[in-house]
Amino acid sequence: MSMGEKLSTEKVIVIDFGGQYNQLVARRVRECNVYCEIYSYKTDIEQIKEMHPKGIILTGGPNSCYEEDSPTYQKELFELGIPVLGLCYGAQLMMHILGGKVEKAPVREYGKTEVYVDKSSSLFADVAETTICWMSHFDYISQAAPGFRIIAHTTDCPVAAAECLDQNLYAIQFHPEVLHTVEGTKMLYNFVRGVCGCSGTWRMDSFVDESVQRIREKVGDGKVLLALSGGVDSSVAAGLLSRAIGKQLTCVFVDHGLLRKDEGDEVEAVFGPSGNFNLNFIRVNAQERYYAKLAGVTEPETKRKIIGEEFIRVFEEEAKKIGTVDFLAQGTIYPDVVESGLGGESAVIKSHHNVGGLPEYVDFKEIIEPLRDLFKDEVRKAGLELGLPKNLVFRQPFPGPGLGIRIIGEVTAEKVRIVQDADAIYREEIAKAGLDRSIGQYFAALTNMRSVGVMGDERTYDYAVALRAVNTVDFMTAESVEIPFEVLQKVMSRIINEVRGVNRVFYDLTSKPPGTIEFE
Ligand code: XMP
Repeated sequence: MSMGEKLSTEKVIVIDFGGQYNQLVARRVRECNVYCEIYSYKTDIEQIKEMHPKGIILTGGPNSCYEEDSPTYQKELFELGIPVLGLCYGAQLMMHILGGKVEKAPVREYGKTEVYVDKSSSLFADVAETTICWMSHFDYISQAAPGFRIIAHTTDCPVAAAECLDQNLYAIQFHPEVLHTVEGTKMLYNFVRGVCGCSGTWRMDSFVDESVQRIREKVGDGKVLLALSGGVDSSVAAGLLSRAIGKQLTCVFVDHGLLRKDEGDEVEAVFGPSGNFNLNFIRVNAQERYYAKLAGVTEPETKRKIIGEEFIRVFEEEAKKIGTVDFLAQGTIYPDVVESGLGGESAVIKSHHNVGGLPEYVDFKEIIEPLRDLFKDEVRKAGLELGLPKNLVFRQPFPGPGLGIRIIGEVTAEKVRIVQDADAIYREEIAKAGLDRSIGQYFAALTNMRSVGVMGDERTYDYAVALRAVNTVDFMTAESVEIPFEVLQKVMSRIINEVRGVNRVFYDLTSKPPGTIEFE
């Protein structure tokens, strides 16, 4: 179920032609407090009409619109009386379909470019006459379609933007959704709030209220099962479902003994019987099972497989006890959908464990994904709205296999204790130094290296802990973070003094690539 369906009466539709910034378009529209969803260009026009969008935005894309087999859309889209804004490829396609001319540009424009705009267009209300915009195109509109008026140009591009007021159609060659376009958000605001006349009533609390309504309608008196990991997404999904259907929801929380220090208890404190949420909470303490399965295993992929399979076994056993459920809930969020290539047209980036492969081992009739239309920061906002504690809502990304992939070599209870304690100290000191919100992801890991040291008058032969801190925009690349030396020293000294079994601390400077973010 997409919670966006009929979620808001005021909606803007983004039609995806495969460009890399498409998620950003949707996001910027929602920043204008207008609900927005992305659909593939293959979506049937009847489906679009049924949604009664207040506006339609066509995204960029990597193709040339005049080539055969390039993504296109039927002309009727521009005749619905609904305002349409084309961006980059979307702009070219609009012109191409409506009788303008698009060709290979004599000069390719890429990067920040000065654009001269005609301020009399409502698209450019309050925008400076000369404004910096982000260009990225090989083709250009050499001639606007009949009925269009040119409303922006650059030195190399005669039609940087055009409008046809009669039909409420707008075309922009550059990318207003990218922050390099200094006044881009204003332009999108002008389109959705001005041209489309959206009143901007969409807020996270409306999302929560309307989602609760939708879940109730869909679930009726059925039973829902959710695997709770303690991560942000499944926790917010649990909060939302609990508000909607209370005890019809059962959450199974598998503690695999590879969580951060005290994390299992924190999850139980929130969702368990003494917490504020009304649901059936089952905690499975499966630590020993996991450690037994992982004994002697050193190969990273094998460890991952064992942890994943064991999760299925444990969950399956619990599901059997519960019996048939009507719905299996998942905390899938929008970037998961896009990364799996199931949502839009952007190239598939990676397959995601939440999407695509539905578990066959649980007997359920339907899947329910209440966060499927939200971006990560929107999920966090929804979490706060639902009353989840801040430390849970702003939790860092944590891999499903947990500390199992932050321990090099064999995983043992002893090594887990070391890495948990070291990591807790590291996190505490980073927070004390006020760096916790400015670093994307940071954690301690355990190398498999033991070496000689001295402590007091004693010779030691202990492990080395590695500290890692990275900033990343997309998780595909990452840079290590420059943490003040005195903070690192404090962490080092505390770890060595407080964590038994450690006599050295390293700081990992490696970026990704060539490293990965995790330490496995
Ligand atoms: P790597 O190590 O591949 O990590 O550079 C990129 C990001 O993905 C997270 N990660 C995972 N998340 N299940 C997850 O839910 C996993 O198996 C997994 N492996 C890595 C990692 O923490 C980082 O944010």
